[in-house]
Amino acid sequence: MNHTEMLDFAIETAKQAGSILMQHFGKISSIERKSTDIDLVTIADTQSEAFILEKIKTTYPIHHIIAEESDLTKGDSNYRWVIDPLDGTTNFIHSLPIFAVSIGLQYNNETILGVVYNPAMDKCFFAEKERGAFLNGEPIHITSTNTLSNSLLVTGFPYIHDDNWKMSFEVFQTLYGKTQGVRRLGAAALDFCFVAMGRFEGFWEFGLQPWDVCAGALILEEAGGNVSDWDGSPMPFSGTRILGTNGHVHKEMIDTLGKELL
Ligand code: IPD
Ligand code: CA
Ligand code: CA
Repeated sequence: MNHTEMLDFAIETAKQAGSILMQHFGKISSIERKSTDIDLVTIADTQSEAFILEKIKTTYPIHHIIAEESDLTKGDSNYRWVIDPLDGTTNFIHSLPIFAVSIGLQYNNETILGVVYNPAMDKCFFAEKERGAFLNGEPIHITSTNTLSNSLLVTGFPYIHDDNWKMSFEVFQTLYGKTQGVRRLGAAALDFCFVAMGRFEGFWEFGLQPWDVCAGALILEEAGGNVSDWDGSPMPFSGTRILGTNGHVHKEMIDTLGKELL
């Protein structure tokens, strides 16, 4: 199977879905709520997802698909697509141009390609396993910064405001104190890509979902970075506790995050 052909398909599909998002950007008049009052979904999420699902089902009818706004599409195949049709919905609703379409593809549970497309900036990040990571066709790489004290980090906070949520602000404070700062941008897929292209040294979050992390994690690994659970074990597919860094500050971050019982 030619994975490069599938990568081209994923890039084209992400760009077309991005055009759908841009038709709605700045014009959202109604929103719906999902798990909590701040877990939002719009017509842009659902139209983008319907478009992506239709394209995959037409081109690769037997593949499995996991997509944020739909039930699992079961297939009879070793391939599984993992889709976030709009990562950064809250930003999108507020006309903040930090959002993306995220498309990952797994073979036998291993991610083999990932595309993260930010249509507002026309930035397309993509990677194929063992073939490097790219931004609009140009190779991207992590930074060589090797201490937390010289690092800028990025993180996010979950929609459910439970005890873990409170704990996450303590972790935020601890890492803020050890670094040049921490940013909270609101689109996990792009957070990974910004580490991959050298804007940040590390990204951590808990309570994410497979579609938030699948494509971005591969892009970061292919740009030379490391991705794991907070304790250094392999990153869970579920996205429960993720750590992505330039590799050089990975151990220092595990030393802080590994102590958290989240
Ligand atoms: C969210 C974003 C955000 C993260 C949330 C995610 P959504 O995805 O990635 O950065 O902090 O946990 O749920 O809902 O905009 O697709
Ligand atoms: Ca998301
Ligand atoms: Ca989403």
